[in-house]
Amino acid sequence: MWILKNKKELIIKSPLKLTRDYSLRYELYDQVKNHYQLEQSKVSYLEFGVAAGFSFKWWLERNKNEQSFFAGFDTFEGLPEDWGMHFKKGSMSNAIPEISDKRGLFFKGLFQNTLPGFIERYSEQIKNAEIRIIHCDADLYSATIFVLSQLYPLLKKGDIILFDEFNVPMHEFKAFKEFTENFYIRLKPIAQVNTFYQVAFLVEEVNMA
Ligand SMILES: C[S@@+](CC[C@H](N)C(=O)[O-])C[C@H]1O[C@@H](n2cnc3c(N)ncnc32)[C@H](O)[C@@H]1O
Repeated sequence: MWILKNKKELIIKSPLKLTRDYSLRYELYDQVKNHYQLEQSKVSYLEFGVAAGFSFKWWLERNKNEQSFFAGFDTFEGLPEDWGMHFKKGSMSNAIPEISDKRGLFFKGLFQNTLPGFIERYSEQIKNAEIRIIHCDADLYSATIFVLSQLYPLLKKGDIILFDEFNVPMHEFKAFKEFTENFYIRLKPIAQVNTFYQVAFLVEEVNMA
């Protein structure tokens, strides 16, 4: 229902395709990167759910601004709770990825434990970026709603929020719905793949109370 109502809002129009091809998410990233000229921008890229680091490295490798900052958050011990029937607590456990780019940092632990201290320490740096890219790829409702609520005070018009499992009703979608209904923020869909499984949003307005 939400998809049918909102697909016409997409900034980058694309047909809805009933695919479930995970590699299409890189096309989505590419579209967003090119549309907003993110290669040279000074970005603060915050990724929640890093696992082996595929998406984290994708963004790190494509942004060329030396002042950009990339932070990746994960337990690195897998999901803290079951996600649906097939992904049990502890699945997706990975060692912290190896990177040589000094702009990237990883924060190991539950977001619920690492994010508040991170914000306290890095809020100026995050605020000073030209654009913040928030990548929600934790799959879980609990993790996603926590992250969005914590980051709300740092968000500015023009920022980008990516979801990797957006159309899962009781998880990322539920968090998105509650966030947009209970905070003073308006998000506009930019682009999607896999029938809104992966979606990018633009912060169109924030703090508009
Ligand atoms: C789908 S994987 C991330 C995939 C990754 N972005 C990629 O490019 O392939 C989801 C990750 O979220 C992490 N995660 C979920 N909830 C978390 C939480 N509350 N705190 C820390 N990590 C969490 C899990 O440990 C898992 O590694």
